[in-house]
Parts: sequence; structure tokens; C-alpha cells
Amino acid sequence: MIGKPDVQITNYMIRYYGKLAGYGKAVPEKVITNDELAARIDTSDEWITERTGIKERHVVSEGEHCSDLATNAARKAMEKAGITADELDLIIVASSSPDYLMPPVSSQVQHNLGAKNAGAFVMVVGCTGFVYALATADQFIRSGQYRNIVVVGVEVISRNVDWDDRNTCVLFGDGAAAVVLQRTESETGMISHHLGSDGSGFEHIIQVAGGTRNPVTHESLDQGLQYLKMNGREVFKFASGMMGQALKIVLDEAGYTPEDIDLFIPHQANARIIEFAAKQAGLPAEKVFVNVNKYGNTSAASVPIAITEAFEEGRLKEGDLLALVAFGSGLTWGSCLVRV
Ligand code: ACO
Repeated sequence: MIGKPDVQITNYMIRYYGKLAGYGKAVPEKVITNDELAARIDTSDEWITERTGIKERHVVSEGEHCSDLATNAARKAMEKAGITADELDLIIVASSSPDYLMPPVSSQVQHNLGAKNAGAFVMVVGCTGFVYALATADQFIRSGQYRNIVVVGVEVISRNVDWDDRNTCVLFGDGAAAVVLQRTESETGMISHHLGSDGSGFEHIIQVAGGTRNPVTHESLDQGLQYLKMNGREVFKFASGMMGQALKIVLDEAGYTPEDIDLFIPHQANARIIEFAAKQAGLPAEKVFVNVNKYGNTSAASVPIAITEAFEEGRLKEGDLLALVAFGSGLTWGSCLVRV
């Protein structure tokens, strides 16, 4: 017989589902307010609040790193799910700001957790990373291959932005959050998902230097090419249209309507984009989760941080229908419907 006994059984008789069994977040303590930014660059609390809805963001302190945040978030999610490190089969870390380009930060997390039975890999899909990672984890659960997977979204973007560039530095924040997907035979978990990409927009959110096309040189550093650059207007246009469309696709696929959604968690990039998407879908404000005011855009961490806070605040409870939509660099987008 080839493969694990579980897999053989799955193929013939049993359907497996990935239950969202645990969640947890780890955000740095240090907070930078809009007023603090306005004291050092040409911006204002009024401009940032009006254009983005952001009031403050958390950023790492010296000695605090992507792998630390990811590990702490994963530990909390595992504790909530009641599983030990030995029981973990797989760790997927969605991040575009790892400790190192090599090795993958997922292996640092695996080592920190002491998860000696787990495989680990990184998913680099910008702000859409967590939705891609969750959909991937769900496939491993459904196939019967794995029982417990931790999916982490984590970013330390504060070290990749130019703090003198008002077009970007006001928008982003650091943080991490994780969920545990656990195999069950009860019908729950992901109902439908949709993953998209349009590489023609690759230049709209980009760190030009640091990869193999433009290795870091003295010249590239002098030009600040190592920093994240963004064409805000183009991303805004793309995201405003895409959020509503991506949500509709997963609803249609599952045979649901917006009225069936208990909570909509969109990627927390900009309150205006969120409002636009909610309006397009006909969702009332009480069904839309927003915390961009407290964290800014934490990229791949934004959706799981919001999931964690929604549970903690009682906005999400077992049995609810949760809709997730994210967009980001690539350009990419992803959406899913989850019965929690
Ligand atoms: N403070 C004051 N003025 C500013 C600031 C600032 N922080 N930033 C830009 N401005 C200025 C601009 O220079 C511009 O001035 P100009 O007209 O003299 O040239 C003016 O404000 C208006 O700029 P716009 O780009 O038209 O402002 P807009 O209303 O589009 O808001 C923003 C800009 C907030 C960046 C918006 O375009 C946006 O949110 N875009 C989406 C970004 C996003 O969601 N990214 C997520 C993906 S990131 C990822 O995947 C890693």
C-alpha cells in the first residue's frame, strides 16, 4: 500500500474538512501615531485619516523580527486549538518581509516552535498571501494528507519602507496572526475560494533592488531602490473594483448571496476601499470588520489579525459564514467563504 492509511480511506469513503480550530495574533508594542509622523515628514493626521482611515500603526523595535512575531502568533493559535508542536503536520507562513531572503522564515518558525514533525514553507503573495496560504492549507486537509496545519500571516514592512517617503510610510504597519486548520469529518471550514493574479501590474507595488534582477549595490542603495514603492492611485483603482468582484465569485460558486454572510473581513489597506467594496456587495457596516485605524496595512497579516480580533470581540462565532477578500502586489487577489 502506498501512502498513509488515512489517504487510502479518504479516496474511497470519507470527506474531510478544515476546521478553524485556533487563532492568535502578535503585534509589536511600539505604536506610531499620525501626529508623530506629521512631526517629522510633510503630512498630517487629517490627510492620513481622511484618505486612508489609519490613525496609528504598530512597528517592531530593535531586536524584534518577523520570525519572532510569527512564532508568537503561531503559539497562541496552537494553544487555542489545544495542540502541541509535535502534532503539527505543516506550517505555512505568508510573508513578503522575512528575516532573510534565504533561508525561508517558515523553517525558523518551525524550529522556534519545536515542531519536529512538520514541513514548512513560505508563501510570497504580498497582501494576498494569507488567503492563498489558507486555500493551500485547506487542500492538504481535504486530501486527508494532514491533520493540523498552522497558517501564519506576518510582516515587518516598517524595515522595507522609506520613512521619508510620505506616499508609503504612513500606510503600513507590522504584525502577525495565525490560525490552525484542523481536520474534521464534520461539514465546516472553507466552502469556496478564488485566487487571481494579473502580472501586468507588477510594477505598481515593488521593491526594485534586492532580488536577482537588481542585486543590492552601492548605486541602488543611493537611489533608495531597496525600499517599497507604490503607485497608490493605480492600486486604489484596481482594489476598488476587484474586492467586490472577488467576493461575488466565491458567493456565486457556493450558491450564497451577500445576505448570507455573517461577517466580511476585507484586507485592511484603506477604509475607503473597504467602504467601496462593502457598498458594491450591498453589505451593511455592521457586517464589515474594520481595524485599519489601529494597525494600518499589515499586508499578509491583516486578514488573520482581523479574524483573531473578530473572534475576541465576539463578532465571529462558531457556525458563522465568514467572507475573506484580499488584494496586493503582483497584482494579486484572493477570496474565500469559510464556515467557522
Ligand atoms: N500626506 C500628505 N499628502 C500626501 C501624502 C501624505 N502622507 N501622501 C501623498 N500625498 C499627496 C500626494 O503627493 C498628492 O499630491 P499632489 O496632488 O501634489 O501630487 C496628493 O496627496 C494626492 O495624492 P493621491 O495619490 O491622489 O491621493 P489618494 O487619494 O489616491 O490617496 C493613497 C493616496 C492613500 C495611497 C491611495 O491611493 C491608496 O490607498 N491606494 C491603495 C494603496 C494600497 O491599498 N496598497 C495595498 C497593497 S500594498 C501590498 O500588497 C504590499
